[in-house]
Amino acid sequence: MGKPLVVAYNRVSREAREKLAETCEVRYFEQSETLEDPEFREAVAGASAIIGVEYEVDEAFLEQAPCLRIAANVSVGYDNLDLEALSTRGVYASNTPEVLNDTTADAIFGLLLAAARRIPETDRYVKDGKWQNTLPDDYFGVDVHHRTLGIIGMGRIGEAIAKRARFGFDMNILYYNRSRKPEAEDKYGASWTELEPLLEQSDFVCTMTPLTKDTYHLMDEAAFRRMKASAVFINGSRGGVVDEEALVKAIQERWIWNAGVDVFSEEPVPSGHPLLKFPHVVTLPHIGSFTEENENNMSLRAAENVLQVLDGKEPQDQL
Ligand code: DGY
Repeated sequence: MGKPLVVAYNRVSREAREKLAETCEVRYFEQSETLEDPEFREAVAGASAIIGVEYEVDEAFLEQAPCLRIAANVSVGYDNLDLEALSTRGVYASNTPEVLNDTTADAIFGLLLAAARRIPETDRYVKDGKWQNTLPDDYFGVDVHHRTLGIIGMGRIGEAIAKRARFGFDMNILYYNRSRKPEAEDKYGASWTELEPLLEQSDFVCTMTPLTKDTYHLMDEAAFRRMKASAVFINGSRGGVVDEEALVKAIQERWIWNAGVDVFSEEPVPSGHPLLKFPHVVTLPHIGSFTEENENNMSLRAAENVLQVLDGKEPQDQL
């Protein structure tokens, strides 16, 4: 019997591909491909495993992948995987929790700081040669330290953000989560609240919850209307958690003061997207987990999941 075929796509580190290649045949597609592409379709048709970032694995995909034993995400989010369809066909699904917590928390806290202190705008101000005199106060930001941060979704990354907020910035932390997190309460002085009071009391509201049918458009018009007019909204989770039309309205009509967004409902975000027209809103291309070191760590973790399944075991990060 030949080596099992692993299809790797869209960001799998060289080290992880080399690890897989010790026992498998690896076909690598550097960008996201679609099943329209004959080469990708042909590879998927013979694949025992697929590994990569956020490829839509649904019924239609699975029909083209009859030998598949595992879909291994190189991400902690897994809204791209139809878990029901996978499980019906007895195909394992896995993600890469833990390894990205600190890296992603750094990026999302950076986004919060950038939106609060208007860092991208003032960077442009300098580079455009506008710094001829004292900075006009319409470029002034708001304080982060000693303010209240409301975290929606206190998972592992949420906790890493709480840690930075509490110990780096003396922030007061509120959180909303399906279950209470006594450890986060003890360690970071975080207080659990219902969603509405969190929105009303927080100076910064940060969504870190996975996208599920329950969290789809959790931040809608009613939610933004509850926030303080001076508040900053940060989305570090998934675009679908936010009703983007409502967010645009909230900024346009000044229900909130500013926003920072790392994720969009459509990625890459189309250039005419209305959120991109506000100079003070900070928009990032979903960079939460993207550092060289972390990409390799996540790829290796996903590769371990693949190798475990091909070795007849359950993947350590089974979904
Ligand atoms: C994740 O791992 O889910 C990050 O958002 C990167 O995709």
